[in-house]
Amino acid sequence: MSDSTSSSDIQAEMAKLAAELEHHNRLYYVDAEPEISDKEYDELFRKLEELEAEYPLFADPDSPTKRVGGEPIEGFEQIRHPLPMLSIDDLFEISEEDRDAIEKKTGERPPKEKEIVDFYKRLQKGLGTETVPVTIEPKIDGVAVSLVYRGGRLEYAATRGDGNTGDVITSNVRTIKSIPLILDPEAGAPEVLEVRGEIFMPNEAFVKMNEERDEAGLPTFANPRNSTAGTLKLLDPREVAKRPLDFIAHGLGLVEGGEVGSVTAFHDLLDRLGIRKNEPLWRAETLNDVLDAVRELDEKRHALDYGTDGAVIKVIDRADQERLGYTSRAPRWAAAFKYPPEQKETTLEDITVQVGRTGKLTPVAELAPVLVSGTTVRRATLHNESFINERDVAIGDTVLIQKAGEIIPEVIRVVKKKVPDSGVRFSMHDYLDGACPVCSGPIEQRETTSGSKGEERTIITHFCVNFECPAQVASRMRQFVSRKALDIEGIGSIVAEKLVERGLIKTPLDLFEIPEERLANLNLGTDENPRMLGEKNAAKIVQTRERAAKEKPLAKWIFAMGITQVGESASRELSRLHRNLREIAESEILAELRTLKTGDRKEDNEKLAPYEIASEVGPAVAKSTLDFFQSEAGQHVLERLAELGIDPQSDNYAPKPAEAAASGDKPLAGKTFVITGSLSAPRDEIAAKITAAGGKVTGSISKNTDYLVAGEGGGSKRDKAEKLEVPIINEEELESMLG
Ligand code: IVH
Repeated sequence: MSDSTSSSDIQAEMAKLAAELEHHNRLYYVDAEPEISDKEYDELFRKLEELEAEYPLFADPDSPTKRVGGEPIEGFEQIRHPLPMLSIDDLFEISEEDRDAIEKKTGERPPKEKEIVDFYKRLQKGLGTETVPVTIEPKIDGVAVSLVYRGGRLEYAATRGDGNTGDVITSNVRTIKSIPLILDPEAGAPEVLEVRGEIFMPNEAFVKMNEERDEAGLPTFANPRNSTAGTLKLLDPREVAKRPLDFIAHGLGLVEGGEVGSVTAFHDLLDRLGIRKNEPLWRAETLNDVLDAVRELDEKRHALDYGTDGAVIKVIDRADQERLGYTSRAPRWAAAFKYPPEQKETTLEDITVQVGRTGKLTPVAELAPVLVSGTTVRRATLHNESFINERDVAIGDTVLIQKAGEIIPEVIRVVKKKVPDSGVRFSMHDYLDGACPVCSGPIEQRETTSGSKGEERTIITHFCVNFECPAQVASRMRQFVSRKALDIEGIGSIVAEKLVERGLIKTPLDLFEIPEERLANLNLGTDENPRMLGEKNAAKIVQTRERAAKEKPLAKWIFAMGITQVGESASRELSRLHRNLREIAESEILAELRTLKTGDRKEDNEKLAPYEIASEVGPAVAKSTLDFFQSEAGQHVLERLAELGIDPQSDNYAPKPAEAAASGDKPLAGKTFVITGSLSAPRDEIAAKITAAGGKVTGSISKNTDYLVAGEGGGSKRDKAEKLEVPIINEEELESMLG
């Protein structure tokens, strides 16, 4: 802008740019008919951003550049809806048996949609007319939302909540580009306009997002509806902006300072405002036309880009609506017919097993391809061993499948058995020969009960418990570097994720072997838009990981391995009872503990009593710890650590508290030692001598350390001891103290 440009010119220019951008938003997101390229759009966007940066006072808070607001919020405020957001009564298909029974009684066979017939009759009776004009439209499987515009601007957006009060989710809704923040003044909207509709995630975008999440080791969503609901609950609009949400209007709420006299007038207004309306839409004036429309919609709905589970039938005339009135929760002038999910038969060709990011082993049905609810289905989850056995599913059987939430396929039941009751039950353990299909690690069976009292059922699931399983690397990494574990968070979860994504890490221990230059060249951005980690950060990571390797005590390392059942406190207790990982792997304490039955008390066991083992460590912890370290996979972890020169030591070793108290007359009683550098014997042996003499050995130096026993080398501990003025002694001096 030149100096002579007046401020009103600038303001006008900014308003024009904003309007232009919103216009193109609408063409792109609502009409799906863009007129300019992404690049041209970006240029306009940048131009407006620049002007707003230069003239912040002129910047419109509802500018297209400000859809994603600043900081995350702490929680959602509540708001009372100006008019309650009602529910809608459901109508269902009736069963063949019911149709038979009615036919027998009345001599007439009703259609499957008999409940629609009854509903329409109620309308006719209530209004006293033969023809009742209604609309038929898809029931969108999304999350209901109310958008309130005042003076042409989006004042707030709220969820349905309990129908009377909902959560204010404006900052999340503003990120949805198909929802205008400013209404076109030419469109003639009333002063106050409440548009109601559904926020949803388009099917294709949902599938893509789930795939991406899965690859990144993030949990996936069961269906688009859950994913939408979960997204709208996020407190950080920047996260919401990354998710592909969309909006369709299906109803009118509060209107002030203007009039919207009919459904048609409302739809015309939505068109003028560029708000997507619910389509396809049928008008019907007779019962037969209603049934035709409902059936036609069933044919068409799978081609829509969102999930639908029904047809909403609404009386058109406002006066008729009022005459029919409301029940306490729903209008009498509307109903939703629920389509039963489409079910198809197909052959179960094979069962394969998938390893999830948490190690859960999920059996998957490999199916002969079949078209269900608009897409070809080739695979369906079988959930777990119990699911397979309860439904008696076997390879070769003909099974009935449907899509849950109209999108995720599932096996409902067996229609025809290949081998009629062979009596053989599916066993995940036998099927996999006891090994994870990805890493050959040990698998573990877990039992959970679900269901209500009296009707509980046991569900058997299986997990790969190998710390090094590549399928689990992302989630394992998260625990490994976390503050409560090795605290290498300095590398940050983004770096960790990128290391996995770029294939530099197959298991968490690989982190210790990535060369510094490779780290420096790690691309944290995208291929088109690279952003390197850089030398300085790489050097910092190398430093942090070395410190973790040398100084993190045993308890943190145990916890870092994410062994089943072994949480933070169990890790500390294991570290109190053992000096290092080898000792744990060969632990007689744990072996004894493992044999306890429910009801057996540790205090009553002669071998265990002296250890005064805390409640966090019981038979289950003992078993899963030993199972892990004694498995091939666990042995590999120990070997790998040895190769890396990592040998974490306990910093709270005090196995027999009773004995320690009685050891007052021993030469090293009450003294704490740390051992470093290379000595004449393995550290274990030297540590054993110290503890035998009543002393304690820990893994890292603190001001509570009494002596550092140092051999050759041992640089960082030596430095720290000097800094903290902890006396440094050599082996000979130790020997003389031992006497
Ligand atoms: S009309 C008073 N139309 O279903 C009836 N609702 O209504 C007002 N829904 O959570 C609702 N698609 O958000 C209507 N085409 C549609 C709909 C629809 C989905 C949702 C609605 C509410 C539930 C019950």
